[in-house]
Amino acid sequence: MKHLKELLAVGMGALLLASCAKPKDATEAKIDRLLSQMTLEEKIGQMNQISSTGLSDDMKGQVRAGLAGSILNEVDVDVVNELQRIAVEETRLGIPIVFARDVIHGFKTIMPIPLGQAATWNPAVVEAGARVAADEASAAGVRWTFSPMIDVSRDPRWGRIAESYGEDTYLSAVMGVATVRGYQTDNLADPTAVAACAKHFCGYGVAEGGRDYNTTWIPEIQLRDVYFPPFQAAAEAGCATFMCSFNDIDGVPSSGNSFLNVDVLRREWGYDGMLVSDWESIANMIPHGYCADLKDAACKAANAAVDMDMASYAYVSHLKELVAEGQVSERAIDEAVRNVLRLKFRLGLFDNPYAPKRDNPYYKEEALQTARQAAVESAVLLKNEGNTLPLDFNRGGSLLVTGPLADSPRDQMGTWCFDNAGGDHAVTPLQALRQVDGLRVVYEPGLTYSRDRSQAGIRRAVRAARSADAVVCFVGEEAILSGEGKCRADLSLPGAQSELIEALAATGKPLVLVVMAGRPLTIGAEAQLADAVLFQFHAGTMAGPALADLLLGAAVPSGKLPVTFPTMAGQAPIYYAHKNTGRPPMGVTHIDSIPVGAPQFSVGASSYYLDAGAAPLFPFGYGLSYTTFEYGKPRLSSDRLTEGGTLTVACDITNTGSRDAYETAQLYTRDLVASHCQPVRLLRGFEKVLVPAGETRTVTFTLTPDDLAFCHADMRTYAEPGEFHLWVSTDSQSGTPVSFEYE
Ligand code: BGC
Repeated sequence: MKHLKELLAVGMGALLLASCAKPKDATEAKIDRLLSQMTLEEKIGQMNQISSTGLSDDMKGQVRAGLAGSILNEVDVDVVNELQRIAVEETRLGIPIVFARDVIHGFKTIMPIPLGQAATWNPAVVEAGARVAADEASAAGVRWTFSPMIDVSRDPRWGRIAESYGEDTYLSAVMGVATVRGYQTDNLADPTAVAACAKHFCGYGVAEGGRDYNTTWIPEIQLRDVYFPPFQAAAEAGCATFMCSFNDIDGVPSSGNSFLNVDVLRREWGYDGMLVSDWESIANMIPHGYCADLKDAACKAANAAVDMDMASYAYVSHLKELVAEGQVSERAIDEAVRNVLRLKFRLGLFDNPYAPKRDNPYYKEEALQTARQAAVESAVLLKNEGNTLPLDFNRGGSLLVTGPLADSPRDQMGTWCFDNAGGDHAVTPLQALRQVDGLRVVYEPGLTYSRDRSQAGIRRAVRAARSADAVVCFVGEEAILSGEGKCRADLSLPGAQSELIEALAATGKPLVLVVMAGRPLTIGAEAQLADAVLFQFHAGTMAGPALADLLLGAAVPSGKLPVTFPTMAGQAPIYYAHKNTGRPPMGVTHIDSIPVGAPQFSVGASSYYLDAGAAPLFPFGYGLSYTTFEYGKPRLSSDRLTEGGTLTVACDITNTGSRDAYETAQLYTRDLVASHCQPVRLLRGFEKVLVPAGETRTVTFTLTPDDLAFCHADMRTYAEPGEFHLWVSTDSQSGTPVSFEYE
């Protein structure tokens, strides 16, 4: 994998083949026929999504009355099939229901949270994880998941950064497309395929202050350059549905935003999938101050082309009246219903409405192996002084396992695991290490959960450390501290975890920190005290075996950060693709070294914080290995790229250590002078390549002018002639640039 366009070309090919299997017109003709038979009430019912209350009389009644175009949150396959039977057999037209669920990073077998999946920089692993999730979820009758979340996320305070693929537009697009493919396969009608949902359209990750649901101000140029591309890529990859975001952009909530939903999604991108609101996001337009009441909200959402109302009951309560009053046209209703029916035809629900019963669909061996591989590749080695890792216990000795995340199945699952929140089948690091032959493990948790402040626990852990040969301390965040509505203004380790680390470090024993969290944390001081630091975003069912493999050297870390780590929370939002400013950081002076009474400009006047400087703790793309790599100078096929032409970039990577290992080479460019200031670097491609010890491998990328394009004042996107810098490097801050011209 190199370029998004190439990637899309493959995906589109597969999806075109799939849609070619049945001529498109045949489906449209069926939709027309059905629409012509439907009453207005039946149409509005298709636009309604309700949350399941099982086989309650109320639920059955709503289905029988044709009020349930879709049901979410039902995962009992017998209930699904019975509700479906009522829809198919007891409603006038027998239109099947599409059952939906938030299957975000696994259904029963849980993969790393999406942020951790992005840290693998391996779309094949991400696609395989989504395939497992779809296979398991479809066994419960779920044929539609609300994933991938492809909100570019640049603020670690925002709890939902956990659900994202991080801060970069390109990486988010690549991972989003991989996820869509894994869920949908190339045949959405396959009973194990699940419709994907690109969410949240749009700008949700830009919430002011990193506080969930907060307002955003996003210039259209920035929407087009940064926030739209992952969604456009998902649309082009055939993602079956989209979801509105909760936020307003420049004062207009997404569920009432015709610019987003009509002008861009439908007209510009030609999207023919289905657009669902977020949970009660239509009703939320009232507290937003955008709608007077639920009727007004229904009117604005329907006129902004939101096809399905999730849980607000705005459409079923008011659309009929709004049509009668001429405030919403029947044509708008027909368009919405057409999109809903198209989804159901694509899923094959008219032919196969019921979920077939499957034996033992969960936790299959290959699913667990996929989860283990994803967890291994998601771990990022941040520090490894004196090659502390991998731990060498060949000659005996004992290992103290400590910290509140060492044995917490529930917490290693991370956020959004509705169907396995308790950590069923999870193997914790403690369990995995205890299974290692010949390894003597002593366990003393110190703290029992991440917010615990027990001093007695710390004292016990320190006593145990004194008689151990090495210490591995598993710290981080409980699952409940990230995800929707879980924002933090302080990004440090919660509770007394820092004190635990300080006390352990004071014993002088080799100290390895394993941080398991839902977001970047400000762990600079703790990392300094430790000999080695391995960071793993909550990695799911197989986090334990993956970490044991990494700690003991059966696997080599290959993850890279998909998001910048700040030194202090006050640096947020912080991301590598920032603009240079007119006064980039120079002569950074720390607050403590300013002499008392220093005159106004004596500490300079450039862009940095007196207490945090400007540099991050760890940059985007960063991640060490148990070996070392040397990058050659990038070789360009020419020093000029012409309109319509291509530029080939080749770079040699040599493994100068003694372990075979994967390295992710990252291609960045910078447009030096442009009519709109451009970021100091932008990721344009990457390749994860196995380089055997002592050997050299060459990575190659192809650049076209489209790769250098940005949005202009007239909202057109194209590249401007001029000089560019290009890097092929191990992260977003290293490497020496080479120049080329675009003419
Ligand atoms: C979230 C969505 C989710 C939906 C359904 C909302 O609160 O924002 O991401 O898909 O709930 O559960």
